[in-house]
Amino acid sequence: RGSSKPTGVRASFVVLANRLPVDRVSMPDGSTAWRTSPGGLVTALEPVMRRQGGAWIGWSGAPDEKLDPFEHDGLQLVPIPIKADEVEEYYEGFSNSTLWPLYHDVIAPPEFHREWFDAYVVVNRRFAEFAAEIAEPNAVVWVQDYQLQLVPQMLRELRPDLRIGFFLHVPFPPVELYTQLPWRRRILEGLLGADIVGFQTTGAAQNFVRLVRLRVGHKTHRDTVYLPDGRSVVAKAYPISIDTGYFEELARQPETEARASEIRASLGNPRFVLLGVDRLDYTKGLPQRLRAFGELASEGLLDPADAVFVQVAPPSRERVDQYRRLRDEIDRIVGRINGDVGRIGQPPITYLHSSYPRAEMAALYRAADVMVVTPLRDGMNLVAKEYVATRYLDSGALVLSEFAGAAAELKQAYLVNPYDINGMKATMLKAISDPPKEKSKRMRAMRRQVKEHDIETWARTFLEDLAQVREPHGKRTRP
Ligand code: G6P
Repeated sequence: RGSSKPTGVRASFVVLANRLPVDRVSMPDGSTAWRTSPGGLVTALEPVMRRQGGAWIGWSGAPDEKLDPFEHDGLQLVPIPIKADEVEEYYEGFSNSTLWPLYHDVIAPPEFHREWFDAYVVVNRRFAEFAAEIAEPNAVVWVQDYQLQLVPQMLRELRPDLRIGFFLHVPFPPVELYTQLPWRRRILEGLLGADIVGFQTTGAAQNFVRLVRLRVGHKTHRDTVYLPDGRSVVAKAYPISIDTGYFEELARQPETEARASEIRASLGNPRFVLLGVDRLDYTKGLPQRLRAFGELASEGLLDPADAVFVQVAPPSRERVDQYRRLRDEIDRIVGRINGDVGRIGQPPITYLHSSYPRAEMAALYRAADVMVVTPLRDGMNLVAKEYVATRYLDSGALVLSEFAGAAAELKQAYLVNPYDINGMKATMLKAISDPPKEKSKRMRAMRRQVKEHDIETWARTFLEDLAQVREPHGKRTRP
């Protein structure tokens, strides 16, 4: 299989994710170093990993790279090599041109190619073999996301002693869409190798259980699947969250507040700043949102001198065709709106195709009167939660798509159907013009929600359930 196995690393807690939780950064002297990535997942798992001497297996992001396991910030990191053709077929292909669109309501047409699936199998097996090598007897292994759905079964075959958890960060589609997938049964059986399969929402967990009943033929009752070998698998919702305390603290720093004022001043001190922050992805509903704002401006319902839109859209998966096309589409929409309704020094939309450090994001959140989050489908959407966490004065408003997992928890948001442009226009106007009392009532309730359910709670709940699934000596209980 052409992959050298990691040697020397042993761990009683192992995390597997497509990516390692570190980014490579270039130093002034020309060398490179690793920096912990800004993601919430590593923040949540860091304490557990330190306590248990945990290891994280993942890809560095560069093709054809063979790196030895190394330690970073007290974490054992185990890089897994992925060849250039596997990057095309496993990552850009099956993961991001088959599964990603299929799991997001087929907003873009998923492509089905047998060679892509073959590469997915090969890379998933490599992950399973690495984990089998590293995990101590009876260790806990937590597999993350849609890139690794075959790993639980592969790993169980290699190491039946392990407790295996799986968490899907993206949506899980309804039976009617899922069954398009030629390899549907293989994937479902792959997931059933886990003791717990976690989802962002109850609806997603129910979709999974229903599929397993209809397509694999296993007996199910509520959130439990009964396998013929006597094992059972629990499928339920564990809505992921953010490090709420960290974001609030960051927001409260005087430098953040100063930077927020500076941002508003650079925008010409408009009365209202609307903000969007999304990876440049076709699931995020960017065209719909920009069009709604553009119409409000061109119809005179919003004065461009009064209200500006800042859209931050970090590049993502740039070698995948659908993402290239989206970029062109956004360029065109932004250009047209700014050309049509802009005035000298007053473009209604400020579009930034780059990513920013967390401190800058916090300042942007603080500068925004209205946060606009309008995905056509989204597993959770942590940007919505980050915005709420930074609103420590309970000011501001969140416009949120009904089709984001976060809508199940942030019920006091200004909810919209992103396909309904008129509805979105009306709700955006309401979010701008509602009395401050109404806005702070909503924000207070949402802030309570994200404070009580942060990323630490999420990780703890999942891992506690996993610890209880099977008692030693093979006796089974349910969480
Ligand atoms: C989503 C997925 C993650 C993925 C991230 C960034 O949040 O659920 O698994 O890591 O997007 O995408 P990328 O393809 O750059 O890893």
